[in-house]
Amino acid sequence: MRYLSVLAAVAAFSFASILPTRAAVKDVIPVNTENSSLILVVEDDGAVDFRAYGGRIARPEQFAGMDLYGDHHIHNNIAAYAAQGGFYVGAPALAVTYADGGVNTELRYVSHETRAVSEGVERTVIRLRDAKQPLEVRLVYVAYRDEDVIETHAEIVNTGRKEIVLRDYYSSTMGFYAEKYLLTRFWGSWAHEWQVERVQLPHGVTSIEDLCGTRTTHKGNPSFMLSLDADSFSETSGEVVAGALKWSGNYKIDFCRDETGRLQVNAGINPQNAEWHLGKGETFVTPDMVYTYSAAGAGQASRNLHDWARRTALYDATAVAPTLLNSWEGAYFTFDTKTITDMIDDAASVGLEMFVLDDGWFGNGEFARNSDRSGLGDWQLNTSKLPEGISALADYAHSKGLKFGIWIEPEMVNPKSELYLRHPEWVVHEEGRELMTLRNQYLLDLTNPAVQDFVFDTFDSVMKMGDIDYVKWDCNRHALNIGSSSLKHQSHFYTAYVQGLYSVLARIREAYPKVMIQSCSSGGGRVDYGVLGYTNEVWVSDDTDAGIRTEMQYGFSLIYPSLIMGSHISAVPNHQSGLVTGIKYRTDIAASGRLGVELQPKQMTAEEKRVVTRAVQQYKQFRDIVFYGDLYRLQSPLEGPDAANLYVSKDKKRAVLFVYHTKMVVQAFSPRIKLDGLADGVYKVTEMNCDKSCFWGDGREFDSDFLENYGLNLKLRNPLTSAVFLLEQVSHVDIDRP
Ligand code: DGJ
Repeated sequence: MRYLSVLAAVAAFSFASILPTRAAVKDVIPVNTENSSLILVVEDDGAVDFRAYGGRIARPEQFAGMDLYGDHHIHNNIAAYAAQGGFYVGAPALAVTYADGGVNTELRYVSHETRAVSEGVERTVIRLRDAKQPLEVRLVYVAYRDEDVIETHAEIVNTGRKEIVLRDYYSSTMGFYAEKYLLTRFWGSWAHEWQVERVQLPHGVTSIEDLCGTRTTHKGNPSFMLSLDADSFSETSGEVVAGALKWSGNYKIDFCRDETGRLQVNAGINPQNAEWHLGKGETFVTPDMVYTYSAAGAGQASRNLHDWARRTALYDATAVAPTLLNSWEGAYFTFDTKTITDMIDDAASVGLEMFVLDDGWFGNGEFARNSDRSGLGDWQLNTSKLPEGISALADYAHSKGLKFGIWIEPEMVNPKSELYLRHPEWVVHEEGRELMTLRNQYLLDLTNPAVQDFVFDTFDSVMKMGDIDYVKWDCNRHALNIGSSSLKHQSHFYTAYVQGLYSVLARIREAYPKVMIQSCSSGGGRVDYGVLGYTNEVWVSDDTDAGIRTEMQYGFSLIYPSLIMGSHISAVPNHQSGLVTGIKYRTDIAASGRLGVELQPKQMTAEEKRVVTRAVQQYKQFRDIVFYGDLYRLQSPLEGPDAANLYVSKDKKRAVLFVYHTKMVVQAFSPRIKLDGLADGVYKVTEMNCDKSCFWGDGREFDSDFLENYGLNLKLRNPLTSAVFLLEQVSHVDIDRP
């Protein structure tokens, strides 16, 4: 034993003696928000390293003398942007092959500056240059003071005269020093999105990623939470970091926990099959990676992201979502003008504010869109189904006081279509390989400028068919056997596809700033803060079963705000799950997002119509709190028989509580829900959307300490029963505390 430790000491000494140490720090670069600090340092050799991301540190210069006391075997710090080269032997954020064949990069500090961008927003740019090769990297950090959010990306510049190849070009590196890291991530599949998985990070590299090309969310989501030094997930305590990537294509987030236990997180575009050739003088700008830090558990981390999203990331967060009837599950492909005008009448009669005509309204003759086998790409009105035209339907909806929306899937083409006959070359393919269909369709090549024009023109021409307020933009397949005749380098495909999509969406937004757009992709396949820069909402899942949605919407809420969460009341037995759920539970689930209805109203029972009418009317009284308030997840559906969410308005004068009793529990007390986030004062508690209240104190006034410390005990016993309460502050005087 003694012999071994002597050997270890000798080894350590000899290893250390050949390695430079980095005791001196030349400069400290802080990126601060109100409650968090990201600390980067310039080392004596010019490397820019990561030191800390956590609670706010008022005098960051104290880091100047810091010694990490690392074992001498552990020579390299976590870099601000981990490049492959020098002493670094871990998973890289940046890996480059240079014109001379060199593959090493050692980034060195050039300069940095921090500037105010707007009230409460600061932008820090750190310029780095490789020690040998003609490469510059700008690390950009935008700090949102009040939201405690930092957006970060890299700008990679080829300053040489010859092309270089980026093999890895992630958005950012972030580091953590903790004993353990509880990762919360999402997994799933079609109609099964937003499954929450929690895992203590093992040593080595754990990745979350997607390689589908066109969408981000069925198998996972480019987002996560990390509970630091925690054995279990807590809503209200402990250090939690949440991250989300603004990108709608292949992504990868690598959690690299090394032998010392420290953690380095590289996040960005998935490098798999995606080498990027950067010509002389060109710059590659990576998408933003978004981080938030909370010292008070996951609830605060979510609220930070929701606030940031509403402030800056979402396209027009001020547009109030209309309640709607969508035709899909009520009519599928089988309808005529009368079906639609009847649906509009029925939507109006239950108080809905918009009608959305889903798939099936286009294509003619042999290519009529009467099933998913034909018509995609032929965005002309189906004149046998709807001879009066879209404009007549939109006008009819407007005459009934409803807005009008329409479905398109402009990135796709069926082999059975006019478009495919005219432009087979527009399809993503590789010569000599099988052209594979998914859902009977091909993917159009959005890397091709002609296709980008076509997609823009499709949107434009559909908008001109009538007075259209809303577009549901679908995307029902991913990329296979990729290839594009418009690309010199096929490895550019995945990245260029998303760039092409964003460029079209930007043009559309320029031309149609007010139209609402939903991002849908075989249900919830495209939910990310990239596409949300252009769209107002997302479709969470094709599984509209309210019981199943309880868990999905919980997972969704960890990262994304309810303001963008499409949630529809559908028929029973549910078309996906076959389960039968009571109409009240179905309406109460939909009311915690953007409430819609997706069924044939003619098939609703009188009782269903009565409850939906009441729910829609009452929802209009509190939806502003759901959209713009602070979310407190009081109980998780993953942990017990009850899920409870409280939304509190920013001024804390109103709140709305949703309680979902999901499982049968015999011989137990009925659920008791302790509230959180209220102001000191007295609140009137009123149950909504009910015939007979499940709360003994319905309509009474309660002190906030009663609501927070004892809570509401509710008579909810049967599985899939629910309650919604509106809380209104009647007095804000301080409660006397003995
Ligand atoms: C998939 C979507 O998720 C559905 O809501 C519906 O719009 C269909 N596509 C239509 O084909």
